[in-house]
Amino acid sequence: MQSRVGSLGNLEEGKEPLLKVTHQLFRPMHLRLLQFILLFLGVAIVFSFFSMYMISYAGNQNLATVAQSILLPCVPEPNTLESWIRPPSSSSHVMNDSELFWRASFTPKIKDYPFKRTPKIAFMFLARGPLPMAPLWEKFFNGSEGLYSIYIHSLPFYRPDFPPTSVFYGRQIPSQMVEWGRMSMCDAERRLLANALLDVSNEWFVLLSESCIPLHNFSVVYRYISRSRFSFMGSFDEDSPFGRGRYNENMSPEVNITEWRKGSQWFEVNRKLAIDIVQDTIYYPKFEQFCRPACYVDEHYFPTMLTIQSSHLLANRSLTWVDWSRGGAHPATFRSNDLTVQFFKKIFEGTKCVYNNQPTILCYMFARKFAPSALGTLLNHSSEFFGF
Ligand SMILES: *[C@@H]1O[C@H](CO)[C@@H](O)[C@H](O)[C@H]1NC(C)=O
Ligand SMILES: *[C@@H]1O[C@H](CO)[C@@H](O)[C@H](O)[C@H]1NC(C)=O
Ligand SMILES: *[C@@H]1O[C@H](CO)[C@@H](O)[C@H](O)[C@H]1NC(C)=O
Ligand SMILES: *[C@@H]1O[C@H](CO)[C@@H](O)[C@H](O)[C@H]1NC(C)=O
Ligand SMILES: *[C@@H]1O[C@H](CO)[C@@H](O)[C@H](O)[C@H]1NC(C)=O
Ligand SMILES: *[C@@H]1O[C@H](CO)[C@@H](O)[C@H](O)[C@H]1NC(C)=O
Repeated sequence: MQSRVGSLGNLEEGKEPLLKVTHQLFRPMHLRLLQFILLFLGVAIVFSFFSMYMISYAGNQNLATVAQSILLPCVPEPNTLESWIRPPSSSSHVMNDSELFWRASFTPKIKDYPFKRTPKIAFMFLARGPLPMAPLWEKFFNGSEGLYSIYIHSLPFYRPDFPPTSVFYGRQIPSQMVEWGRMSMCDAERRLLANALLDVSNEWFVLLSESCIPLHNFSVVYRYISRSRFSFMGSFDEDSPFGRGRYNENMSPEVNITEWRKGSQWFEVNRKLAIDIVQDTIYYPKFEQFCRPACYVDEHYFPTMLTIQSSHLLANRSLTWVDWSRGGAHPATFRSNDLTVQFFKKIFEGTKCVYNNQPTILCYMFARKFAPSALGTLLNHSSEFFGF
C-alpha cells in the first residue's frame, strides 16, 4: 500500500513536478486557445453584423457604398462644417423620390452663411438621350469652374459616354421614364431641382433641353441671372382654348380660373422657388388629376403654382428664345443654313422686355431648337455669334 501509495506518491511526486510543468506549459496554451476563441467569436459577431447590413441593403446599395460603410467606423465621423457644405461627390444616389424630395427641402433658417459661399448656377438638362450640343456647352463653361454645376436627366435606359475630361462626365442623375406633356415630365423637372438642391451652393436653377444653346458667354449669363430681382418663369393669363380653355373646375378652390397661368417649360428659378416646387403637396394632386392632355401640365403647373404663391418674385418671361412664328404644334428647328450673324442679331435686338423694372433689349440667354447638324457651324462661329 505504502509502496503503492509511495509509488503512487512517488509517481505522484514524480508526476507532481511533471504535472506542474505540464500544467505550466498547458496554462499559456489554454489561455492562447481562449484568446483565439474569443477573437474568433468577436470576428464572427462583427462579420454577422456586416452580413445583416449587407443583406438588408442588397439590391439598392452598390458595392462601393457598402465598402464605404464598412470603412466608416475606422474613420471618425467628420462632424465639421465642411461635411455639410461640401457638394455630394457624385450625382448618383439610392434615394427614391420621396426620400430625395424630403432631403432636398432642408433649408437653413439663419440667413447669413458662416462661410464664404460662392453662389452657383445649376444647369439642368432634361434630355431623351445624348446631348448633341455638348461641345458648344463645353466651350461655354470653359474657365468658369466653381460658378456652375450640371445635372442631366435622360431616359433611364440611356448610358452616356462622355469622356472623364468632359464637364458632363458623371452628371447623370437617377432618372425615370418621361412622357412629354404629362406629369412624369414635371416629376423629372422636380427630380432635377431636388438633386441640384443637395448642393448648398446652387442658388439659381436653369432648365434646358438637348436642343438648347447658350446665346452669350458665361460671364454675361451669370451676371444677368445673379443680378435679377426676379426669377424667369414664363407666366401669362391667356383667354383662349389653349390657355383658360385647359382649366378644369375641379381644381378649385386650390386653383381658381383667374389664377390659371400658362408659360414655357424652360425656366430659371432661384433657390427659394426651387424648394417651393420640390415641397409642393397642395397643387400637385390637382394638376396630376385634372390637367391631362389636351391640358399639357408642364405648361401650367409651375407657372400657376408660383403665381399663386410668389407672383412678386416672377419676371413672367422665359430666358429661352424660341420661334413659334411658323405655327403648328412645335416650334421651329434651326439647321446649319439658317445660322448667320443676321439670324442671331434678330434674336438679340428684335425683342423688348423688362429687366429689374427697366426696359431692355437683352431678353434671352438661351435659345432653342437647334438640330444636331447645326453644331459644326455653331462651334466654328461661336466667337462671332456669341462672344465665346
Ligand atoms: C420610398 O421608399 C420609402 C421607404 O421604403 C417608401 O415608404 C416610399 O413610399 C417610397 N417612395 C416612392 C415614391 O417610391
Ligand atoms: C479651355 O480653355 C483652355 C485655355 O483657354 C484651352 O486650352 C482648352 O482647350 C479649352 N477647352 C475647351 C474644351 O474648349
Ligand atoms: C463676355 O461678353 C461680354 C460682352 O460681349 C464681354 O464684354 C466680355 O469681355 C466677355 N467676357 C469674357 C470672359 O469673354
Ligand atoms: C376666383 O377669384 C376671384 C377673384 O380673386 C373671385 O372673385 C371669385 O369668386 C373666385 N372664384 C371661385 C370659384 O372661388
Ligand atoms: C408677374 O405677374 C404677376 C401677376 O401674375 C404680377 O403680380 C407680377 O408683378 C409680375 N412680375 C413682374 C416683374 O412684372
Ligand atoms: C468647321 O471648321 C472645320 C475646320 O476649320 C471644318 O473642317 C468644318 O468643315 C467646319 N464645319 C462647318 C459646319 O462649317
